[in-house]
Amino acid sequence: MKLQLSTEITGLRNNGVFASLLVTCLFTLIGCDSNPASFQVNEAYIRAVEYKADVTKPLMREAETQLSTAQIQNVSEIMEGLFGTPDEPNLPGGVGLEDFLSLRKLKIAAGPVTYTGEAGSTSGLESGLYRRHCAHCHGVSGDGHGPTAQFLNPYPRDYRMGQFKFKLTDADGAYKKPSKADFHRTLMQGIAGTSMPSFRVLPEPEREALVDYVIYLSIRGQTERALIEAAYFNASDKQEDQGNPQKLLVNFGEASQDQDLEFVKELLVPVVLPWANGGQGTVQRTIEEAPVGWDSPESIELGRKLFYQSKANCYSCHGRTGIGDGQNNLFDNWTLEHLGNAQGEAAGSGEDGEIAGIPEYFYNSELAQIGVVKPRNVKPRNLRLGNYRGGRRPIDIYQRITGGIEGTPMPANTKLTQAEAWSLVAYVLNLPYEPASRPKTAPVFQGVGSNK
Ligand code: HEC
Ligand code: HEC
Repeated sequence: MKLQLSTEITGLRNNGVFASLLVTCLFTLIGCDSNPASFQVNEAYIRAVEYKADVTKPLMREAETQLSTAQIQNVSEIMEGLFGTPDEPNLPGGVGLEDFLSLRKLKIAAGPVTYTGEAGSTSGLESGLYRRHCAHCHGVSGDGHGPTAQFLNPYPRDYRMGQFKFKLTDADGAYKKPSKADFHRTLMQGIAGTSMPSFRVLPEPEREALVDYVIYLSIRGQTERALIEAAYFNASDKQEDQGNPQKLLVNFGEASQDQDLEFVKELLVPVVLPWANGGQGTVQRTIEEAPVGWDSPESIELGRKLFYQSKANCYSCHGRTGIGDGQNNLFDNWTLEHLGNAQGEAAGSGEDGEIAGIPEYFYNSELAQIGVVKPRNVKPRNLRLGNYRGGRRPIDIYQRITGGIEGTPMPANTKLTQAEAWSLVAYVLNLPYEPASRPKTAPVFQGVGSNK
């Protein structure tokens, strides 16, 4: 089995044209229409890999190893060979993607906005759904850094890490990626309490095309990350005898090309498998029906107790009264990638999710230019507002509690019995309707205040 990419890849033009296109598209976004558009390389991740973000040693944050321009260029060329361009998407062959994503759908979602109908009409859309409806927030490459992004809180999702919050698939294990049905639900409902709108008004086939395209951008983004890591591994290989820090991942047109592409395929397979699952895609978890009486006053009362017990530990983040004031120094995975793991130092009690007094070295114009958004902490949800981003059906809340919210500190609780989890669902759904003075006295025996 050979990766069917050599023709596309070797057909690439010279590097100068490619680089200047990247720059044009970076600054004009949708203005790429007249030029063939290119995806911007994930410079933010290159930077994160090179600098191994570490806020504990900010002044020592110097990259010992950096990728050469030729190595970054090589990653871009491999990526274009595999996935095509924003105007002409491609599915790499031989890794099980054709059975899972439809190139025809991708072509409807990709490309500049064009209509088949009469001039000025918005019906009969031929291509460009993604750039019309999504790119101003999610960015052409799905980097979550479209022109509107910096003004939004929370920020639009950066798909390239392949992590998603709201899904009914397994919390862990090989097939925890969202299913197509999960993405459909997100597009139908939007994400309540955020700027992510509902796309219910679109015809079903258009939503289907967009779902495939989001998955395509995610797989593309994850592949790019894997290539960047592999390129970095080469660049840091400084052993005198066999190491070659200038080594390219794929030497196009040279004897080693086939072997190099075989290596690329090895990187691609583990990215694709958790999504495609042999062509059938990931499947929704089977959640048993809620037990009779799950929302009775007794059950709510049990939920209230659990909320404060270490087994569930909800209060430590969501606060004693459930308004989300238990922890204000939490960050999501997209932010941690650039902050490093010692996030404690960056913690503050800023308003509106801004980190108070965030030191200069955490964020500067250089980072902004490569698509890193200003770090903000993620607040545990205020459970008294009755605003649920992942949906308000009891089963949605059940899944959030037992499956967590991927990419955020909201954990998947595996210690609760089913009945206990349903009691917590009942309690959570009841919280907006009960007076904030409850509980009247702190349940001292459960260690409230010690925060353990
Ligand atoms: C006005 C800005 C905006 C537009 C337009 C927009 N989104 Fe979003 N989108 C967001 C924000 C903000 C989030 C993150 C919400 C969060 O983190 O809770 C998001 C999240 C998502 C997610 C991730 C859901 C998850 O479970 O993590 C998907 C998928 C998504 N959007 C798809 C789309 C698609 C497809 C389109 C176009 C049809 C689109 N969005 C248009 C703002 C937008
Ligand atoms: C380590 C901190 C932490 C703990 C412990 C925690 N949460 Fe959360 N929770 C969060 C954060 C952060 C969010 C917001 C995530 C996001 O969407 O960005 C959240 C979101 C939620 C949501 C909103 C879901 C939605 O669709 O909007 C619910 C409901 C919730 N938590 C309930 C609970 C319950 C019940 C418990 C105890 C079993 C719990 N949480 C434990 C941090 C925590």
